[in-house]
Amino acid sequence: MKTEVLKITGEKEHDRKVIAKAAEIIRNGGIVAIPTETVYGLAGSALLPGSAEKIYKAKGRPSDNPLIVHISEPREAEDIAYTSDMFYRLAERFMPGPLTVVLPKKDCIPGSVTGGLDSVAVRCPENPIARALIKASGHPLAAPSANKSGMPSPTTASHVYHDMNGIIEMIIDGGECSIGVESTVVKPTEDGVMILRPGRISERMLRKVAGRVEVAASVKDPSNAEKEKVESPGMKYRHYSPEAEVILIDAPARKYISYVRKHMENGSGALVTTEHLKDLTGVPEGFTVFDAGKTRSAFERSKRIFSILRRADELGLKTVYAQLPPSDGAFLALYNRIVRAAGGRILKI
Ligand code: TXA
Ligand code: MG
Repeated sequence: MKTEVLKITGEKEHDRKVIAKAAEIIRNGGIVAIPTETVYGLAGSALLPGSAEKIYKAKGRPSDNPLIVHISEPREAEDIAYTSDMFYRLAERFMPGPLTVVLPKKDCIPGSVTGGLDSVAVRCPENPIARALIKASGHPLAAPSANKSGMPSPTTASHVYHDMNGIIEMIIDGGECSIGVESTVVKPTEDGVMILRPGRISERMLRKVAGRVEVAASVKDPSNAEKEKVESPGMKYRHYSPEAEVILIDAPARKYISYVRKHMENGSGALVTTEHLKDLTGVPEGFTVFDAGKTRSAFERSKRIFSILRRADELGLKTVYAQLPPSDGAFLALYNRIVRAAGGRILKI
């Protein structure tokens, strides 16, 4: 199959044609990679059972891992799920945006989309291209991240092309994703919500709207996900890992830098926060230093993480060193992704 990459240019008539073409592919049961504000998604109709199967096949993903269903307006949740006051409280504050809410599903959503669960994860993305496509196709869109299963999520169209060339019909290139990590996934509880996957919408932001906010144990300790009843099936698979081995080091910055200094072998690399780049001088050829973003900027560091891990693979690195980020507040999403990229192993020095 030839994979067509069509760019959104801002020229109205051109962009309308790109969206119309993608909408037709969706209505015919095909799949299209689309930009969202978080990461690129692999989108198919959430109403046609065959589309979900194609998505699983393209990703090489186990089909018991449910997909997120994307809508263009919060009220469209009524068509696919049983909503609640809590849903509308969350929607009013955070939608459109990077929040996904798990709700009891209606019958029109096939079990193939939800991995056999009787709930469905609902998200109204903010990205105007994604929303225009949902509107133009007339279908809610099932869309997981557009990477091969287990690989870091794609934040540019060229990341998607790398994983999906020859496998899907079309990629819409809408530029770089502004957030760079996947949406926060929550499930309403009796008196609040439980965070199943951390993202840009933090625990503190949710608390203002949702009351009691719990965080699933597997979020901070991915090894829990194997042992416990898995609330969010996606959390149980090894995830976000590049081919390179990620060695995660729990140490203060100075100690981390001196550890990296001793391990600057050919074919490896290290993530270093912007302020500390100047501390790594005399770097030998064949060793790559990645600017991880400003130390205190959880958003900048989260936005860069997946593209750095992909870059490490493009360079053919065998080992990548990274400092364990804080796990509190806005850093929780970054912490969760990087610990999983390292397969849960943390080296305390
Ligand atoms: O930002 C995002 O959410 C991106 C973009 C494309 O929208 N999508 C995304 O989808 O990350 P995916 O399929 O890679 O991740 C879906 C997550 C998984 O952790 C999955 O287990 C969870 O959502 N999930 C989906 N449906 C669920 C359900 N019914 N109950 C509990 N967890 C669910
Ligand atoms: Mg994913």
